[in-house]
Amino acid sequence: MKKVGNPNSISRILLFSLAFMLTFSIQIFAQDAATMVPAADAPVASAPVGDAAAGKAIFNAQCAACHKLDAKMTGPALRGVGAKYEKEWLYKWIRNSAELIKSGDERANKIFNEYNQSPMNAFPQLSDADLDNIIAYTMEPKAAPVATTEVAAVPGGKVEGGGISNEVILGALALVLAMLVVMLLLVNSVLTKIAKANGIEAAQKEKTLPIWKAFAKNQFLVLVTVIFLLLSSAYFAYGWFMQIGVDQGYEPIQPIHYSHRIHAGDNGIDCKYCHSSARDSKHSGIPSLNVCMNCHKSIAEVAETTLAEGKEFGVDYNQEIQKLYDAVGWDVAEQKYTGKTQPVKWIRIHNLPDFAYFNHAQHVTVAGIECQTCHGPVEEMEIMYQHSPLTMGWCINCHRETDVKLKDNDYYKKIHEELSKKYGVDKLTAAQMGGLECGKCHY
Ligand code: HEC
Ligand code: HEC
Ligand code: HEC
Ligand code: HEC
Ligand code: HEC
Ligand code: HEC
Repeated sequence: MKKVGNPNSISRILLFSLAFMLTFSIQIFAQDAATMVPAADAPVASAPVGDAAAGKAIFNAQCAACHKLDAKMTGPALRGVGAKYEKEWLYKWIRNSAELIKSGDERANKIFNEYNQSPMNAFPQLSDADLDNIIAYTMEPKAAPVATTEVAAVPGGKVEGGGISNEVILGALALVLAMLVVMLLLVNSVLTKIAKANGIEAAQKEKTLPIWKAFAKNQFLVLVTVIFLLLSSAYFAYGWFMQIGVDQGYEPIQPIHYSHRIHAGDNGIDCKYCHSSARDSKHSGIPSLNVCMNCHKSIAEVAETTLAEGKEFGVDYNQEIQKLYDAVGWDVAEQKYTGKTQPVKWIRIHNLPDFAYFNHAQHVTVAGIECQTCHGPVEEMEIMYQHSPLTMGWCINCHRETDVKLKDNDYYKKIHEELSKKYGVDKLTAAQMGGLECGKCHY
């Protein structure tokens, strides 16, 4: 039992690496704690009297219609306004700006003229405490752009920005795995050495027939496998040919991340507000960007809860709205059009081949079919996709199953009476009205 290596060395390596890991991770947490504490303290130290959180609530309820903290709207951006004027002046202005202007106050008249003499509401009902709260809110430092920046892991475990990044954790795991591998190799070599020293021979493998040769000899097995392969490839080939030209589920990435869930779902905007031509023409059409600006002139940023939802989908909704502004040439800060526009190239999703004829008005207005019957739960779609196969079989099936709508439709009354006599039924399906004739759908 000599010269087999020192088994103690293994446990020493193990101990050493464990100690290394521990110091490493403790350092990370220490760094973390060190950076966290002052960050939480900072705003409190610099904020004036007043409760910023309460101020924010009042601001959102009373002032947000005309003011933002960091951007011009109807009125100026209000961040830092508490430092621009003294408190007494602000009290007077907010409670009744018109009166202050009339009194001839120089600064009041200056800002009033700067904003084309557009009046600000008076808020006599707000108490001193309310106003202090609002001012405290405007004096909050601007939140740093929420960190999408990678947390940098510097050798030695320095972590900036708080929170251990996934990379550090993954790195540590990789290290542990690598150490395990090394240890296993060491154990293996030590054991072989011990075995050799004791004169034990490792058992030699017996020579056996390679598995593929055994397989080739068994004809029955070969036959079954060949049949199986033929059948399954035929099945997949058939499936593949049938899906040519069928784009069900097609979900391209659009130039602007536009969410039907938020617009048609959460905010309940009617489909036809944007897709107005669905009612009376063949095509439903994509709205022009002017339609968007009806609302987005005053919606430059989404609510915080909405913004948080966007994070889950990996998009910054505010940046997407900015893309809309870039396209129509809208300057948010100045609140006017710059004249520099660039088209948004929406990618078309639903597209029948040229030889097929489909008309929205006929289905939406005449037949009274809901958009969702064909397009699926659009109001839940974060990203638009093709819900239905749009195959001929799909059209025909529905024509066979759906009754023609006769209510409020005098046009059909006579045809309907004649045809229902002919077929001897009360209700006519679209198919019985001629919805299966090739010429109706094919030019
Ligand atoms: C109806 C729109 C409107 C509302 C609501 C409104 N403001 Fe204003 N505010 C303005 C306009 C416009 C101006 C620019 C001066 C002017 O034209 O009267 C202004 C100016 C100001 C100023 C001066 C800013 C500067 O930089 O000189 C302060 C402060 C201010 N508003 C605070 C408030 C507060 C606080 C509220 C909510 C309690 C509020 N405003 C609600 C329209 C509004
Ligand atoms: C605020 C405007 C707006 C509203 C409201 C709206 N849409 Fe859209 N819709 C768009 C825009 C913009 C696109 C193009 C971008 C995209 O595909 O996501 C689009 C695309 C579509 C498409 C895919 C078009 C294609 O390329 O094949 C369908 C289908 C659709 N909308 C159906 C609906 C339905 C159904 C509703 C009501 C539940 C609705 N939309 C409400 C703006 C709107
Ligand atoms: C009827 C009003 C209205 C119209 C029209 C409208 N939007 Fe919106 N938009 C909203 C509202 C409300 C929100 C969400 C605000 C929130 O949740 O805080 C929003 C949010 C957004 C967002 C961020 C969330 C998302 O969907 O990615 C984008 C981008 C956007 N709109 C683009 C558009 C585009 C492009 C059009 C035109 C095709 C359009 N909007 C038309 C009201 C409208
Ligand atoms: C009977 C099924 C059906 C109904 C109901 C229906 N659509 Fe469509 N939609 C289609 C088909 C099929 C296409 C592809 C048309 C083409 O390529 O010519 C389409 C295409 C579209 C497009 C892409 C642009 C275009 O016109 O080709 C939009 C947008 C759209 N539909 C919105 C709507 C809206 C909004 C409604 C409800 C008001 C609606 N659809 C109702 C079947 C339907
Ligand atoms: C959700 C059910 C539904 C689907 C899906 C559908 N249709 Fe229809 N379609 C109808 C109904 C109901 C009518 C009868 C409308 C009426 O009263 O004129 C109709 C009528 C028509 C007509 C007029 C028939 C006539 O007699 O004048 C044409 C053309 C047509 N559809 C084409 C299509 C095509 C092409 C598709 C597939 C891309 C399709 N439809 C998918 C329900 C559907
Ligand atoms: C309700 C509408 C409708 C009627 C009626 C209809 N078709 Fe079609 N047909 C379509 C649509 C939509 C497509 C495109 C399907 C696709 O792109 O997958 C199509 C595709 C086809 C194709 C191309 C092959 C394929 O599946 O893509 C042929 C051939 C065809 N139709 C023949 C006919 C004949 C023949 C008739 C009369 C017996 C007929 N169609 C009646 C809607 C119709």
